[in-house]
Amino acid sequence: MTRILFVCLGNICRSPMAEFLMKDMVKKRHMEDEFFIASAATSTEEIGNPVHYGTRRKLAEYGISVEGKYAALLKKSDYSEYDYIIGMEAANLRAMLRIFGSDPMGKVHRLLDFTDKPRDIADPWYTGDFDTTYNDIYEGLLGLLEHIERG
Ligand code: 4NP
Repeated sequence: MTRILFVCLGNICRSPMAEFLMKDMVKKRHMEDEFFIASAATSTEEIGNPVHYGTRRKLAEYGISVEGKYAALLKKSDYSEYDYIIGMEAANLRAMLRIFGSDPMGKVHRLLDFTDKPRDIADPWYTGDFDTTYNDIYEGLLGLLEHIERG
């Protein structure tokens, strides 16, 4: 079982998009029993709120539902619960390391570091551009899946 936690600032735009897209990708590959996938926020700002309409609408284009997801706060204890803890941008990694203290097992990664064009995923909360966010997240998830499958 591979346990993956996606992390962003608010847990309403990018990390839920990564969570539910990754769940869909592993399901389509008939690998859903091999994964536990969730997402969390580094900020308390949106805790308890539902997924942002832009993310919901974009995922709905692909028939993916985010029903039942509400923003949750990253906890220090999450470090031992997951194999991969994946931020969307460099600032998320700095915030995670403040919460965890350190990353002795090398679990903390930036999603697009699993691609051949390492970069941050722009925050659609500010850009309003959920299409670019979706394309970037999909590219990162493909790279992550390849990395995991290579073992
Ligand atoms: P997310 O986007 O980190 O991708 O969920 C944001 C959501 C909320 C805020 C900022 C970014 N906010 O400032 O409340």
